[in-house]
Amino acid sequence: MKTISTQVCIIGAGPSGLMLGQLLNDIGIDTIIVERASLDHVLSRVRAGVLEQGAVRLLERAGVGGRMHGEGLVHEGFAITCEDEIHRIDLAGLTGGQSVMVYGQTEVTRDLVDRRAETSGVTHYEVEAVELHDLDGDRPYVTCRVEGEELRIDCRFIAGCDGFHGASRRAVPESAIRTFEKVYPFGWLGILSDVPPVSHELIYASHSRGFALCSMRSMTRSRYYIQCNAGDSIDAWSDDQFWSELRRRLPPEIGEQLTTGPSFEKSIAPLRSFVAEPMRFGSLFLVGDAAHIVPPTGAKGLNLAASDVHYLFEGLQAYFGDSDSELLNAYSERALARVWRAVRFSWWMTTMLHRFPDHAPFERRILETELAYTLESDAAKSALAENYVGLPY
Ligand code: APR
Ligand code: PHB
Repeated sequence: MKTISTQVCIIGAGPSGLMLGQLLNDIGIDTIIVERASLDHVLSRVRAGVLEQGAVRLLERAGVGGRMHGEGLVHEGFAITCEDEIHRIDLAGLTGGQSVMVYGQTEVTRDLVDRRAETSGVTHYEVEAVELHDLDGDRPYVTCRVEGEELRIDCRFIAGCDGFHGASRRAVPESAIRTFEKVYPFGWLGILSDVPPVSHELIYASHSRGFALCSMRSMTRSRYYIQCNAGDSIDAWSDDQFWSELRRRLPPEIGEQLTTGPSFEKSIAPLRSFVAEPMRFGSLFLVGDAAHIVPPTGAKGLNLAASDVHYLFEGLQAYFGDSDSELLNAYSERALARVWRAVRFSWWMTTMLHRFPDHAPFERRILETELAYTLESDAAKSALAENYVGLPY
C-alpha cells in the first residue's frame, strides 16, 4: 500500500471541502482531498443559488470573488405571495442595507475547482472504499482505493466534508453522536430553463395547491420549483404540466408574465431537517451536509457549509500557526449554535409556506395566521429579513 501524508485530509470535494481546502492551502497548511465522484459529476450538480454576505466574504478570501462579483446578481429584496396577494420583503430596508448574492452553487464549485488547480492543490477523484481510522488519537489516517491502487493518507486532522451520505459521520461510534431529524411529507420538483426569470427578484409563493418558488441563475436562465408529493416520479411531470402547475400557484398578474420553454434539468428533491451533535469526534471534524441538512426554503444549505468552514478554518489556523487549540476545541459549539438557528429558520419558512397533507384544519389556520402576521408586522418582517440575509459570524 502506498502511504502519503498531509496536515489535513479532507473527505469530499463539494463546496465545504473545496472552500476549506483553498483557505488552508493559501496560508500554507497542506491538504489532500479525496472525492468519491468524478470531476464531471462534481461540476454538474445543480443546487441552490443564494449566498449570504458571510459566504461571499469567505469565497473572496478563498480567491474566487472575481467571477462571482462579475456575474452574480445582488438582490435587495424578494416577494412572498399568498394566494393572489403580493408582498415585497425589503431586505435592505429591514436590515440596514444588507443584501444577498444570487450565484449558483454549480458556479461556486467550478470557481473553487479551477482555483485549486491553479494553486496546485491535490484532489483525488473517483476514489473508492474511503475509510477513516484511529480518530480518537492524534495520528488518524484515511485509506482508500485510487485507480485500483490502495492508498493510505496519514494526517493530523480529518475534515469530513462528504455530505449527508458520506463515510465520515458513519465512522463515529453511535454512542458518541446524537442525531435530530425531521422528514417533510412532500418534495420539491425543480427545473432549469433558458428563459428570462418572471421577475428580477425571487418569489416565494404560498398557495392552496402547494408552494412554488421562482428563482434564477442569470437574467436569461430561470430556476423554478413546485412542491410535489414525496413519492412522485419525475417521468410523471412533463414540462407542460410543470409550467401549468407553476402558473396556477402564482398570482394571475405574475403568471401572465411567465415565459416558458424546454427544461434542461429536472429533478425531485426530498425535504429534510437533520443535525448531528457534536460536530467533532477526536481528530475528525464534520463540516456542512455531513453534519446537517436543511430544507431548501431560505437557501441555507451552502451558507451553513460556509459558516462551518469559517469556524474550522479559524481553529486550524490558530492550531498550526500559534499552537493554540482553543478555537479548534470550540469548533463544534460555535458551529452548532449557528446551525440550529438556520435549522429553525428553514423549518419555520418551510412550515409556513407549504401545504402539509396531514395537517388538521386547526394547524392550517394557525399557519395562515402566521403568514398573515409575518406580512403585516414590521417586527416580524425584520426577523424574517435578518435571518434571510444570514445571522452574523
Ligand atoms: N468519500 C469521498 N467523498 C464522498 C464520499 C465518500 N465516502 N461520500 C460523498 N462524497 C462526496 C460527494 O460526492 C460530494 O462531492 O462528498 C461531497 C459532498 O458534497 P455536498 O453533498 O455538496 O456537501 P457540502 O460540500 O457539505 O455542501 C453543502 O452543498 O450539497 C449542497 O445542499 C448542500 O448546499 C449544501 C452544500
Ligand atoms: C435556487 O435558486 O435554487 C433557490 C433559491 C432560493 C431558495 C432555494 C433555492 O430558497
